[in-house]
Amino acid sequence: MHTDQDFKAHQRAMWAGGDYHAFATASLWDFGPLLVEATGIAPGQRVLDVAAGTGNVAIRAAEAGADVIASDLTPENFSAGRREAEAHGVEIEWVEADAEALPFDDDAFDVVTSSVGAIFAPHHQAVADELLRVCRPGGTIGMIAIVPDGAVIDMFDIITRYAKESVLGEQTPIEWGREEHVRELFGDRAELTFKRRSFNPSPLADVDLFKRYHPVVRMLYAELADEPERIDALNRDLDAMAARWHDDAQRVLVIVARKRG
Ligand SMILES: C[S@@+](CC[C@H](N)C(=O)[O-])C[C@H]1O[C@@H](n2cnc3c(N)ncnc32)[C@H](O)[C@@H]1O
Repeated sequence: MHTDQDFKAHQRAMWAGGDYHAFATASLWDFGPLLVEATGIAPGQRVLDVAAGTGNVAIRAAEAGADVIASDLTPENFSAGRREAEAHGVEIEWVEADAEALPFDDDAFDVVTSSVGAIFAPHHQAVADELLRVCRPGGTIGMIAIVPDGAVIDMFDIITRYAKESVLGEQTPIEWGREEHVRELFGDRAELTFKRRSFNPSPLADVDLFKRYHPVVRMLYAELADEPERIDALNRDLDAMAARWHDDAQRVLVIVARKRG
């Protein structure tokens, strides 16, 4: 994979596979209310959720009374998000967008959120610049990142060992879990606060959920379809990972950035 365009096309095809909505509702659906609370989303606010998936944050922000746009590189998942929003009785606008080049005006939103989403874009500085650009002065950016000491690191290791093409990009998403990295990206343009949250047992400990639904894991199985021995090895590695996760917490970093006026 050579160009940035190729990488993003591969990412989009990957996240469109499996059944992300089934995975999300059974695992990290509660990241939504966590981020809505951390950013203090209030009725009437204009909210942009970046790399929104199927709306775990966007739907909760709309339920809190905000006017919400959900954006993502992978519009294939929007129909599941639309159905979920309808079931919750809220309306959301869904827009295809790369977190590194958001199709929105400067200062357009009161709150910009991204739950384990924008961290997957390969150029971290471009993401931070875009989140800041579309947020109004005095507005709030809220992100959930994966911390480098969390159990999910095992999953990244497995992905790296089995994937045929690079999945994690030029800069690993894990870097967003280091406070110094985030401080460097936002510089003095925002006032930053960080909180760590643990989930134990991890909501991600159910390995069958990964095997059945997770887009990245489904892609690994598809790529190895003609290599039964590698599939056996992958199964063993995933099972060993799950056994460890039952005794370990899933740790995330909640980042809140208040854009300076
Ligand atoms: C782990 S999912 C998180 C989705 C959702 N925020 C949640 O918490 O359930 C990662 C999401 O990032 C999206 N994504 C990956 N690279 C992206 C990019 N460059 N720009 C926008 N979205 C991207 C994927 O399409 C996917 O929906």
